[in-house]
Amino acid sequence: MRYAHLLEETRLFDRRLVSYQGNKQAILHSWIKYREGFSARLVEWLLHEFGVQPGDRILEPFSGSATTLLVAKSLGIDAVGIEILPVCDLAWQAKSLIEQYDLAELRHVLALIRQREPGDSSQPFPHLVITHSAFPPDAERQLMFYTDWFESLGLSAASKTLLRLVLTGILEEVSYTRKDGQYLRWDSRADKLIQHNEARLAQHKKPIKGLDKGSLPSVRQALLSALTAIIEDIQVLQSRPFPPSEQLLIRGSALTVLPTLAADQFAAVITSPPYCNRYDYTRTYALELAYLGVGEEGIRALRQSQLSCTVENRSKLALLRKTYDAVGQLSRYESILGTVQQNPTFQEINAALRLRWDRGKINNRGILSMVEGYFIELTFIFAEILRTCRSGAYVAFVNDNVRYGGEIIPVDLLTTDLAEQLGFVPEKVYVLPQRKGNSSQQMGRFGREPLRKSITIWRKP
Ligand SMILES: C[S@@+](CC[C@H](N)C(=O)[O-])C[C@H]1O[C@@H](n2cnc3c(N)ncnc32)[C@H](O)[C@@H]1O
Repeated sequence: MRYAHLLEETRLFDRRLVSYQGNKQAILHSWIKYREGFSARLVEWLLHEFGVQPGDRILEPFSGSATTLLVAKSLGIDAVGIEILPVCDLAWQAKSLIEQYDLAELRHVLALIRQREPGDSSQPFPHLVITHSAFPPDAERQLMFYTDWFESLGLSAASKTLLRLVLTGILEEVSYTRKDGQYLRWDSRADKLIQHNEARLAQHKKPIKGLDKGSLPSVRQALLSALTAIIEDIQVLQSRPFPPSEQLLIRGSALTVLPTLAADQFAAVITSPPYCNRYDYTRTYALELAYLGVGEEGIRALRQSQLSCTVENRSKLALLRKTYDAVGQLSRYESILGTVQQNPTFQEINAALRLRWDRGKINNRGILSMVEGYFIELTFIFAEILRTCRSGAYVAFVNDNVRYGGEIIPVDLLTTDLAEQLGFVPEKVYVLPQRKGNSSQQMGRFGREPLRKSITIWRKP
């Protein structure tokens, strides 16, 4: 194996550090649960390793809950983030306003919530088809009551943003749903599941077993507890202000935003893209997106602008071509596409998946186009990172290897190979000690084979 010497199984990072687990209790980072994030400690460690200093500027093209941007802010490092989801945008806005919150105003709101019983709301929850019956009726009423009420209190813009984040952040907790990678899982009390199971029974099919989330907190309880914790964080953080620096989160797809950024500016990149694992952020974050006013059309558009990580994703080549044409770089488009299409490992993986599809070992044809699109799109991302980084900059990508129809796809090594072809120097592939299991479907059919979770490190020469 060409990169065997780069693989380093390390105890420096455990799964907690690389996953959101490590952020669960972390001050500021825990304001919204974002399970796909990595921990602030990992970002701190990498920035230190890479020798990034206050005044430098770094990039996070898949910003998520803004862990990288926030760590940069805490250390006086400038940063640019890119992200497509409005819920992530709101999380960044609310977290980045930390110095501006008026604690007295927020404590006053807390007192008002304690004093007053929630009333009625004039507007219904703006449901999407996939979120119908996600809340007990009283929770839905309270959610919309607080939404209206906070708007009517004459609060500062910062407090309003924060309260919007707090309400968004408690949606899952007060609902009949739980996020579960690809989808939302539903409690058996939700109408959606009850009706679905009635239809299944009528067709003599076994009913689907729902979750049992037990007793749910009221919106008021969840709101009080989340806001109290956040006010405590604000108090601590305002007593030890961050050094001055600038961060910017750009709402949009990294595929179309990166080509518009100036060259040679970033001292490091720390990121984790969506994994090639069929997880659909527009489904897992459906409650939050609906609450923030994203309608059916908007959801479909967001789904298609995600990096190809679901079986529904369609080719983005036309979009990429148009993007490069618009910046007068059509020949660069051709050359980046050529790099990935001529990569022997990329070709081998696509051929192996086609063979397994022909033999009936893969249950959804969309997997083939997802894998192909995933690596093509990532190659464009890598090429733009190379262009926008300064010489000597380090790049860290956290990613998981995946397996389809029994075929293991070494995402860490293939991406390293593509990065090297583009001009990066591969430095290291840190491998987490406990490897990830496979999905139960894969395990049942093809046996257990551990999959690496890795952090690949490259350098711009
Ligand atoms: C693994 S998460 C990143 C988590 C982040 N490192 C954190 O700590 O929260 C991947 C993120 O990429 C975002 N994403 C997916 N496709 C994107 C695209 N084309 N451009 C920008 N962001 C995208 C998803 O919405 C998701 O928030």
